[in-house]
Amino acid sequence: MPAYDAVVPREVRAFLHEANRRIERFHGRIPGFVPCDFEGAYNVLKALAESGVAPGNLLCEWGSGFGVVACLAAMLEFDASGIEIERELVGAAYKLAAAFELPVEYICGSFIPPGHAAEPSDEFAWLSMDTSGDMDLAPDDLDIVFAYPWPDEERFICDLFERHCAVGAVLVTYHGGEVFRLRRKMASRAVPRA
Ligand SMILES: C[S@@+](CC[C@H](N)C(=O)[O-])C[C@H]1O[C@@H](n2cnc3c(N)ncnc32)[C@H](O)[C@@H]1O
Repeated sequence: MPAYDAVVPREVRAFLHEANRRIERFHGRIPGFVPCDFEGAYNVLKALAESGVAPGNLLCEWGSGFGVVACLAAMLEFDASGIEIERELVGAAYKLAAAFELPVEYICGSFIPPGHAAEPSDEFAWLSMDTSGDMDLAPDDLDIVFAYPWPDEERFICDLFERHCAVGAVLVTYHGGEVFRLRRKMASRAVPRA
């Protein structure tokens, strides 16, 4: 899904200006944190909100970094949260959301749920394979998941979504440039007997 060129409202631009200023000051402290295209994310979430494709309003940003996408989702009336493994980023995300009075919950922990068995091939540069997932943000409660995976992490994120999220849930991923992908989990179809 290419991020279309909708006009981002003035209050969203003001929020992003401040978010980018804080991110610039933070720059490089945690190499695994790289921000996505926030205006593109806003437009994709807006289109998603208007489409009625997601089964509900509960959105979680997996690997939320500065928590900007979760904040944008809250501005669009999603019930938004984020989960992030780096404590310093969780603190920064809370401060940013509080500065704009946005009701976003951030959890310090892993979005990989306890008991998720890693395959021997599951080794990545940035994605932490920690499984200290928080059950308050159980994947099968979520209607929408947002993630920004590195290219080698994309398959793992999709498998995680497929295995743990509910039928009907939507996965939004960012892939650099203007590219976002939306997937919806479908019920598996029974194979008719011959
Ligand atoms: C590419 S950054 C994206 C940040 C944010 N979503 C954005 O788009 O601006 C990925 C984030 O995932 C976090 N992360 C990596 N593995 C994680 C895990 N297992 N659970 C939670 N967060 C994780 C990293 O610390 C990093 O902040």
